[in-house]
Amino acid sequence: MDFKIPIIPGDGIGVDVVREGVRALDRIGEVFGHTFTYEHILCGGACIDAHGVPLQDESIEKIKECDAILFGAVGGPKLDALPKEQRPERGLARLRREFNLFANLRPSKIYPDLKDKSPLKDRIIEKGVDIMLIRDLTGGIYFGNKGRREGKNGLEAYDEECYSVMEITRVAKKAFEIAMQRRKSVTSVDKANALEASRLWRDTVTEVAKDYPEVELKHMLVDKAAMELACNPSVFDVLLTTSIFGDILSDEAGVTTGSVGMLASAALNESGFGLYEPIHGTAPDIAGMGIANPLATIASVGMLLEIALNLPEEAKAIDRAINKVLHDGYRTGDIYMEGTTKVTTEEMGTYTIERITK
Ligand code: IPM
Ligand code: MG
Repeated sequence: MDFKIPIIPGDGIGVDVVREGVRALDRIGEVFGHTFTYEHILCGGACIDAHGVPLQDESIEKIKECDAILFGAVGGPKLDALPKEQRPERGLARLRREFNLFANLRPSKIYPDLKDKSPLKDRIIEKGVDIMLIRDLTGGIYFGNKGRREGKNGLEAYDEECYSVMEITRVAKKAFEIAMQRRKSVTSVDKANALEASRLWRDTVTEVAKDYPEVELKHMLVDKAAMELACNPSVFDVLLTTSIFGDILSDEAGVTTGSVGMLASAALNESGFGLYEPIHGTAPDIAGMGIANPLATIASVGMLLEIALNLPEEAKAIDRAINKVLHDGYRTGDIYMEGTTKVTTEEMGTYTIERITK
């Protein structure tokens, strides 16, 4: 089949790792007989340098004709001084807004060959860690009314947590649909013992669950969820939560894998169109040195194949290749351990791609 993919490397190591992601897509094309054509798009600091804005209007139009976005990372220290409207992160924020990417998928699983990198004890890992955290990305406290005002004790600041039934329903549906493809269990995480928005969240998720009788739904308070992620992560299959709780818990879940360089993600809209990106940032300290870990991006390519292009066999081939390259002892600096072979970004790309087979 033919697919059109916008490639948006962004800044810093985004450029290094996305290059390897594209090579992985090309290899999938060769092995499975697909044709990928690419739209190369600037975003973030790279676009500010070239065009004075973090993302061009014409890029949005081009993306509308494509199947799914492969993204790197944006930002950098020299760009932090720019006025708010021109900050590189605005480019990514605009993509999320323009395409209404409300469902953020952040999987965390422990690759067997990296288990010594995990801060968790063997007896905890042995029970299995394979979590799909689904976080609302466009609502809640991040986007509610906020400001500063004079209160009875002087200056105060406020941020409002507000969720509509519509917003909760659409992200909950995504969670249940994804759970149907996995182990058929959703844990919805909230703070219903303290927050009204959480009580509406809980009621709404319970309603949505009625359409998915095969999926088991559990509700869990966020403090308890934080504890379970550290002590008993095998209880989670799909973990569904709000923007703020998801921000915090996805870092906790992610760190169990041992390196942020291994973590992929997707952000989807109602129709399933999405942006696929590694969780890590631009890492200015190692940008351009050719030592960043490309595996999070290659794993994001795997998610893109599975979710956006509906190619599960191709996605499995990516997953097998990542497992194999790790098993064969190749490591970038972030996942290096004594007794393994330290490689560059490009070498890691090459060795992974060589292992992509039918
Ligand atoms: C993340 C980040 C962002 C978020 C920050 C940079 C606003 O922490 O993607 O997890 O909280 O959404
Ligand atoms: Mg975060």
